[in-house]
Amino acid sequence: MDSPARTRSVPPDEINVRRELLARKALLVETEHLGPLAAQIQQTIGIEMPTPVVELGDPRWSDRGVRVLLKREDLTHPLIRGNKWRKLKYNLAACVDRGCSRLVTAGGAFSNHILAVAAAGHALGLDTLAFIRGESPNGLNPVLLKASQMGMQFRYVQRQDFHAMFYSRTQPCNVFTMQDSYFVPAGGSNELGLFGVGELMQELTEHCIDIFCCPCGTGGTAAGIASQLISNQRLIAFAALKGQNYLENEVTALLTSAGHSMNVQWMINHDFQFGGYARTKPDLVAFIRAFHSQHAIQLDPIYTAKMMYGLDYLIRSGQFAPGTTILAVHTGGIVGLF
Ligand SMILES: Cc1ncc(COP(=O)(O)O)c(C=O)c1O
Repeated sequence: MDSPARTRSVPPDEINVRRELLARKALLVETEHLGPLAAQIQQTIGIEMPTPVVELGDPRWSDRGVRVLLKREDLTHPLIRGNKWRKLKYNLAACVDRGCSRLVTAGGAFSNHILAVAAAGHALGLDTLAFIRGESPNGLNPVLLKASQMGMQFRYVQRQDFHAMFYSRTQPCNVFTMQDSYFVPAGGSNELGLFGVGELMQELTEHCIDIFCCPCGTGGTAAGIASQLISNQRLIAFAALKGQNYLENEVTALLTSAGHSMNVQWMINHDFQFGGYARTKPDLVAFIRAFHSQHAIQLDPIYTAKMMYGLDYLIRSGQFAPGTTILAVHTGGIVGLF
């Protein structure tokens, strides 16, 4: 893990540097404009900030000379937890700022993001509409039921069309232009989402951190953290789904369009996705239980458990030099617990 060869970093060239500086400046101007409104929205929804950092004690890690800190982003809000709030913060402000009365988004039927958008819209008096991947079900699952109780409407999109409609950066679908609507992409992973995630790094300046870890689904969280790394810091994002190359391309594209792809050291570890999105194995379930009894912290099986399992494995197999301090981001995650 100490080998920089596996981390990614785009070598700067003059045109790219200029392009990225302009993109970064544009995002800074926009978020500065949205800042006061975003702060007001944070208060209205009742988001608990800043989130605490706790040290996780484990003799198997300290024997290796490795410290592990956990940023408890899961404590922000019962439904708008962790990276969900970070990614929605400026998107909600942009929606209100543009005078839109409806939040439109897309995602899987068991999605933390869908639930978070429904809850945010409900709290702010905005209508919400979600395009859900897959066939229309006979009944609503607990996630969609909860979202519908908060007023969310659904449209179902066949799996084969969903990706092209909602994940393609080159083929924006017509929901982007729906009247009075503000479109939040799947997972909340756009430039404003990246900026919001990056803010969590400002809450960590008193800690001396070598390596950051987060789970990776759509790539926005990884891109947001990577955008704020300084000199020798690195990020390991643990894939929660099968997405070799795809996830790398998503993170790179987001970092580039937000003006941050240069000289940041990040990698995606694909070794702990346990067979794919929402797949689990008895080993992972046992790990969640053991982690809870040791630290009294709940991990979800879809994202945060895969990250902590992978991190634990890497530390115990001696992949980090003694003296390394690692900060893992607990990104919340509730739907896997329903
Ligand atoms: C709880 C949780 N953690 C991590 C992730 C992954 O974040 P991202 O989609 O930004 O890669 C998600 C999904 O978005 C999530 O719901």
